[in-house]
Amino acid sequence: MFIFKRVTDLQRFVERQKKEGKLVGFVPTMGALHEGHMSLIKRANDESEISVCSIFVNPTQFNDKDDLKKYPRPIEKDIELLIANACDVLFLPEVEDVYPKGPKPLVIDFGKLDKVMEGAFREGHFAGVAQVVKRLLDIVLPDKLFMGQKDFQQFTIIQNMIDQLDIPTELVVCDIMREKSGLAMSSRNVRLSEKGRKAATLLHKTLKAAKKKVNSSTPEKVEKWALKELAAPGFEPEYFTIADGYTLQPIKEFSDTDYVVACIAVWHEGVRLIDNMILKKE
Ligand code: PAJ
Repeated sequence: MFIFKRVTDLQRFVERQKKEGKLVGFVPTMGALHEGHMSLIKRANDESEISVCSIFVNPTQFNDKDDLKKYPRPIEKDIELLIANACDVLFLPEVEDVYPKGPKPLVIDFGKLDKVMEGAFREGHFAGVAQVVKRLLDIVLPDKLFMGQKDFQQFTIIQNMIDQLDIPTELVVCDIMREKSGLAMSSRNVRLSEKGRKAATLLHKTLKAAKKKVNSSTPEKVEKWALKELAAPGFEPEYFTIADGYTLQPIKEFSDTDYVVACIAVWHEGVRLIDNMILKKE
């Protein structure tokens, strides 16, 4: 695996690959890699000829400075995992490489997409995500971009950005990887105790039970029920939202749209956990 820290070195390498007609697949990450990230690398290897992974803990998307400080950075382990999964290139820039003139804000109007769920609870988060993904796409110029369904609102917003800015990159959305227990894999899970990890399976259990209620209830009733479930001892739910999978806006009836998603954010042991499940896609 090649490791590039400098933008120009990476660009020179990618340019050469493209001249040889190779398809470039890109997996942006913030490191602390796990099997969820690896599923994206494997998909990039399957669907393109050169897989590029970036590890960059992007300061502009953290609304909570403490979360940024506590974000795990096990770089040696990450490199080993990437090599074991046949990643071709790791791009490992510093803040100054990504934002040479300072983090100039990227102003994109996402309409109502970034006003709900994560956008409502994490001010400025998606402006930061869009800014860094745009900058990374400008540097890597990939044919395909691989992102996880785990961050449902994130991939929806990035698809919207790609459409608005006519970026010639295809977004490929990959399934959520879970522990055997059902807990969605996340870099933040390492901050949970053993007991906390077991208890956090509550998110997946609630999503699965919510899905069973689709034919016999209303979104509002299911949301209310789920929020009660998620208010278990030690848990502090921020939201459980049932939304139209295209617009991310709340729905009144399950029949309002052919694509319905339920998204969760809860706090447990001081860690913010998110998860989601598609309740219906026709
Ligand atoms: P990060 O949280 O490191 O996630 C990188 C990618 O891995 C995202 O596309 C995310 O959806 C995917 N991912 C995380 N957990 C997953 C799981 N359990 N199963 C499948 N895919 C999973 O998301 C970010 O970083 C950043 O916001 C980023 C896009 C890199 C911009 O800074």
